[in-house]
Amino acid sequence: MTVAVGIDRLGFYTPSLYLEMTDLAEARGDDPAKYHIGIGQDKQAVIPPTQDVVTMAANAAEQILTAENRQAIKMVLFGTESGVDNSKATAVYLAHLLQLPADTRAIEIKQACYGATAGLQLAADYVRSHPTAQVLVIGSDIARYGLRSAGEVTQGGGAVAMLVTADPQILVLDAESSYHTEDVMDFWRPLGRTEALVDGKYSTNVYLDFFKTVWRTYQQQTDRAIADFAALAFHIPFTKMGLKALRQVLPEATPEQQETLQAAFEASQRDNRQVGNLYTGSLYLSLLSLLRHGDLVAGDRIGCFSYGSGAEGEFYSGVLQPNYRQGFDDAALTALLANRRAVSVAEYEALYTQRLDLQGADRQLAVGTDSAAYYLAGRQHQQRQYRHR
Ligand code: HMG
Repeated sequence: MTVAVGIDRLGFYTPSLYLEMTDLAEARGDDPAKYHIGIGQDKQAVIPPTQDVVTMAANAAEQILTAENRQAIKMVLFGTESGVDNSKATAVYLAHLLQLPADTRAIEIKQACYGATAGLQLAADYVRSHPTAQVLVIGSDIARYGLRSAGEVTQGGGAVAMLVTADPQILVLDAESSYHTEDVMDFWRPLGRTEALVDGKYSTNVYLDFFKTVWRTYQQQTDRAIADFAALAFHIPFTKMGLKALRQVLPEATPEQQETLQAAFEASQRDNRQVGNLYTGSLYLSLLSLLRHGDLVAGDRIGCFSYGSGAEGEFYSGVLQPNYRQGFDDAALTALLANRRAVSVAEYEALYTQRLDLQGADRQLAVGTDSAAYYLAGRQHQQRQYRHR
């Protein structure tokens, strides 16, 4: 008998600071309409030095784990391209912070923004053959380009935590998916650099080409067409990018279905508009946004396009389950986004330079202003000091 496997629960965390895109546009001498309409972003998460991908992941995972889950988790798959060590996996720090049992595999996965999708698919395959096991999948990143660079408006950060189980509450994944890999230099970050290098316009073209390729392959593999989908969710580095991808396939739909897909897209980009790019977590924040704000019913099929520069793309799908709204804490997510504090451009620029550098002297961080449950206190004997309050 085939086991139904997929996403049982979804958690999201982004730090308590943000930058208004109107303020950034004015400081950079740009028309705010370019940021709000041309790029499609309203706010951007600002990451204080006391948060990194490990603490953000712990803050996201804490929301979704019961004592029973912690015992059932057999694997932690941590997708990130903002790792904190060239050797030790972020997943090991996370498993310790969450007090998971020692009989757990803990692994970090890197392929730009594709890491969490790789984690999700590997997790699903594992649970299909080990149906009583649960897997914690993380997508956690800090999108960082450079002050005054063209990419600055597409920064952001945060973490998504997903619990993958048999008979999941939210989404049962279809077994088929299509993927595509090519060696492409659209975006990369050589060792030792904290900011990405990017050929921005080229990267948007590669993203769109990859979507076309995997969408076509998926249809050939499955005999499904656009009419089989209630919604499409995209990797959203900035919301206009997802809109451009959607527009590529809309002509395949009837006018009525085009309206449905466009309304679903509106819902799927609402939360990303407030946070910015979180690299490998972006598709999953968009999925969460769709579930929170969309007009969906059990049985709806959702298609997901994942893209990681460098480059890898995947299109997969899943079917929404009757109790999907119980798989995330809607009110807590609304409060998380609403209770953030706006920073000035000057404060954002200061915080940008204050993060713990990758190499250098030990340092204690000013932790008093960070009220998150998990935070980074500094570095001692070249070891990162993670704390839980
Ligand atoms: P840019 O040169 O600042 O912007 O770069 P632009 O001049 O192309 O303008 C952007 C849009 O604003 C255009 O709309 C303009 O027309 C419009 P479009 O033609 O694209 O529809 N515009 C205006 N609209 C209204 N009022 C105005 C106005 N002025 C202009 N007054 C770019 C933009 C995205 C290239 C840059 O921000 C960048 O390099 N970002 C980083 C790269 C990126 O996000 N790439 C996305 C695809 S790759 C990917 O998704 C992977 C990634 O997440 C990393 C990973 O995998 O790890 C990035």
